[in-house]
Amino acid sequence: MDFQLFHENPDVLHVGTCPDRSYFIPFADRAEAASGRSSRLKMLSGKWNFRYFESFADSFLNGFFSSDEESGLPVDEFLMDEIDVPSVWQTKGYDRRQYTNVRYPFPFDPPCVPDDNPCAVYSRSFTLSAEEASMKSYLNFEGVDSCFYLWINGTFAGYSQVSHSTSEFDISELVSGGENHIAVLVLKWCDGSYLEDQDKLRMSGIFRDVYIISRPENHLRDFFVKTKLSAGFTHADVDIELFKSGSMSVRAELFDADGKLIAEGFENSGKISFSLDDPKLWNAEQPYLYKALIFAGKEVISQSIGISEVKVKDGIVLWNGRKIKIKGVNRHDSDPVTGYTISREQAKRDLLMMKQHNINAVRTSHYPNAPWFPQMCSELGFYVIAEADIEAHGCATAFGGYDLDHYSAIALDSRFDKAIMDRVRRCVIRDKNNACIFAWSLGNESGWGEGFEKAGRWVKEYDAARLLHYENCHIEAYGRKNDTSMLDLYSHMYWPTEKIDEYCSGDDPVRKPFIQCEFIHAMGNGPGDIEDYLERMYKYDSFVGGLVWEWCDHAVYDGRTPDNRDIYRYGGDFGEFPHDGNFCMDGLVYPDRTPHTGLLEYKNSIRPVRAEWKDRGKGIVTLHNMLDFTDIKDNISVSYEISSDGETVKSGLLDVSAAPHSSCDVVIDGFTGEGTETLFLSCSAAKDTAFCKAGYELGFDQLIYCEEPYQKPEPVPGEIDISESGTEIYISSDCFSYTMSKKTGLFTAMSKLNDSIITKPVEFNIWRAPTDNDRNIREEWERAGYDRHTVKVYSIDSSLENGLALIRVKYGIAAVFIKKFIDIDAVWTVDSEGNINVRMSCVRDTRFPYLPRFGLRFFMPKRFDTVEYFGYGPFESYQDKRRASYLDSFTAGVRDMHEPYLKPQENSSHFGTRNVSLFNGKLCVSFSSEKPVSFSASEYTQEELTEKAHNFELEKCGDTVLCVDYRMSGIGSNSCGPELLPQYRMDEESFTFDLDIRVI
Ligand code: GAL
Ligand code: MG
Repeated sequence: MDFQLFHENPDVLHVGTCPDRSYFIPFADRAEAASGRSSRLKMLSGKWNFRYFESFADSFLNGFFSSDEESGLPVDEFLMDEIDVPSVWQTKGYDRRQYTNVRYPFPFDPPCVPDDNPCAVYSRSFTLSAEEASMKSYLNFEGVDSCFYLWINGTFAGYSQVSHSTSEFDISELVSGGENHIAVLVLKWCDGSYLEDQDKLRMSGIFRDVYIISRPENHLRDFFVKTKLSAGFTHADVDIELFKSGSMSVRAELFDADGKLIAEGFENSGKISFSLDDPKLWNAEQPYLYKALIFAGKEVISQSIGISEVKVKDGIVLWNGRKIKIKGVNRHDSDPVTGYTISREQAKRDLLMMKQHNINAVRTSHYPNAPWFPQMCSELGFYVIAEADIEAHGCATAFGGYDLDHYSAIALDSRFDKAIMDRVRRCVIRDKNNACIFAWSLGNESGWGEGFEKAGRWVKEYDAARLLHYENCHIEAYGRKNDTSMLDLYSHMYWPTEKIDEYCSGDDPVRKPFIQCEFIHAMGNGPGDIEDYLERMYKYDSFVGGLVWEWCDHAVYDGRTPDNRDIYRYGGDFGEFPHDGNFCMDGLVYPDRTPHTGLLEYKNSIRPVRAEWKDRGKGIVTLHNMLDFTDIKDNISVSYEISSDGETVKSGLLDVSAAPHSSCDVVIDGFTGEGTETLFLSCSAAKDTAFCKAGYELGFDQLIYCEEPYQKPEPVPGEIDISESGTEIYISSDCFSYTMSKKTGLFTAMSKLNDSIITKPVEFNIWRAPTDNDRNIREEWERAGYDRHTVKVYSIDSSLENGLALIRVKYGIAAVFIKKFIDIDAVWTVDSEGNINVRMSCVRDTRFPYLPRFGLRFFMPKRFDTVEYFGYGPFESYQDKRRASYLDSFTAGVRDMHEPYLKPQENSSHFGTRNVSLFNGKLCVSFSSEKPVSFSASEYTQEELTEKAHNFELEKCGDTVLCVDYRMSGIGSNSCGPELLPQYRMDEESFTFDLDIRVI
């Protein structure tokens, strides 16, 4: 075969490859199958010779090929380096990384790609024994980004593309016993790259395993496991359809999960059938797997089999006849060190963590993961939306702006129909035998066109048993009438809650079940509106669920700073163009898999049991079992704890039994009715599981039994001095001395018992370091001048009344060239001990956007390093992001109260705080209000958090920065999701902030 160029030819996708098949590694015999180690498998992973070329056109074609023009073969002498296979070369010092989301990293000129196309040659030798050489040799590449040419022993052996799919070559004719040689040329871009515009750091190379399988001449090329359940689920037919290459006899044994042989089957008209009474069914909560050993000629193939049925009935998804809820995540293959190369251990760690956080579904966004990944999902119990390696989002920006008609340019370009079909087939054919497949997905964000319609129809023909998903089919380019009849689900990412209400409460009889393939965008501090979505998910049967965008932050680990801080880099840090900044860091976990508070929030929002008062007075609580298949009594133990003002009053275990989707009532006694009394209900694993030990907490509820009315501290009248200069008011007694500026109407110095309480003047606090979810509203905030406001004092009067100092101030807050946005009338009262009350009556001009927050900021000496609070902790908490936290009293060091988002932003506020005190070892300064406040205590200023691009660049300000807010706006998920819901915005027109400050 001559070496020709195929990588800009959408008509030639694979040369010399075998037909697609499901993933399996055959064994020589039963013993091997039992051990899991196949003598038929020769891994070629390890060190390969390597040479990287910046430009295919210049350095490769001119330099490399001319060296051996006649054969045009890569020769080892030219491969000066060594590289690990699998790996991506950007993690090994070659080329550079690029993070782009929508925009293509090359000119939009399909099917062409730049001639300056980075590429690399890989080579190595391998040995085949005489026995292996006498068999068929199948060379498998599980993933090469973006395409490759292959030579075996100097002969061109083929070409393949589709980065996240297996390419298998029959190289039997090209190899012989003894040493053989393999050379691979990998190109960074090819015509397929137009279909691989997934939102990720762009990397290249042989990033998944490479191996040879030795197989007998006659073998089972592929098989398809199909299960069919009787109406009452009391009977299952399990068929294994056989696709042979050559002839051989085939039989199979079926084992239950305990390894007991339960049936034997023989081939009959192209399949082996088992008939099972009372089959154990597979679902994500009880991932019961049978195992088949298929004896096909001289091979044994082991295949786990889950029996289940998924279908849509009356617009509702039923799994084994029951309504289920998808509480999922989108997952990319991503690691801060290894890039796209993900080992089984890394993947398993992700999946175990997901299970530990109640997650039951994964969308393999936006490409198939390694072929063993769905097997792990079947074993651990996940519903999987298996997505084809397709995204052509960059079409939308091909004219520079965002063009919805052009969005479908590739989808409508018939030259790509073949590639779309190929990619969909590769996904479905490879993964079809996995129990976990909930739905096939045709890809992501590529618009829609005939290519998708054809591919979708093919899926339904090939595998009618699974659902079919694709989100972007609502893009009707140039008014095209899309045929989406083959899709089983109606999918829309990031829909606001009111759209969901509209869709799900409608009574359209042909309405498809609704799924949010992406929702509650988890970027930075967030997501903040989980509960609002879950309410609807549980309310509407037609809302089958959603998958959070996304599992992990993508960033690149780059060592440590001299002061030992981890350096993580993101878009723009590699000198690339274009790039999309930190939009790649939008996961529920940090790149190193440390959970974000958002993951904890999600975990508790999708907890297996939810509690609510049925009759508070009588201590009756209703417990709802939110699971789809498991009775509470079988897997979960529920304990309770009554506490009053943070002190435990009574605790114990509850005897709870509730079938899935049903509830039960429990009566709890022992409430004292004193203080602020709460009931904490914790559910934990009753027994060891594959992902946790017995006792592991799966979720909790906290119900408030009674709330102590706010006890306003009584001021202590006594000897107080007030004096004034032209610019200041001095208030003091024998134990304290405070100075207030007449210009700002706020304290500029405060000390008690000769100890300073503040290091800088007190300030009104409106701004917050924008969170990623503030990225849109931020512009409006800045336009309003919230980040640069100034204070005007119209009048300020001090007086002594009944042994108390009173200062009445009228303020206005505005920014340069901007109209005033708040009027404040305040009365400051200071008692003889230095305790303060301030009562501010505020009126906002509502023509301005809602406020990030409203409160006061205190810079306190850093010796005030310990915080005690009675509020929502221990994690950061906001109005709409507080399900991981609960109301209790907590103590924390200021230095531990920073949530280290890789891109700094507002963090670590505590919602619902009844009282917060700071200690310096001698003084305690305590803040409380009749309406609970939000507070944060930090070593960093919001200005520093606003300004710095990376966490490792942050500098401490040297003080303890205490922010006490009348109200802090919620978090939402507007980094990609809808605007912050109105109820979470700090947008009251008039409000009163009454704050008590005690200095003890
Ligand atoms: C979606 C897309 C994801 C990701 C996300 C933003 O539109 O499907 O791949 O880009 O937005 O983080
Ligand atoms: Mg996209």
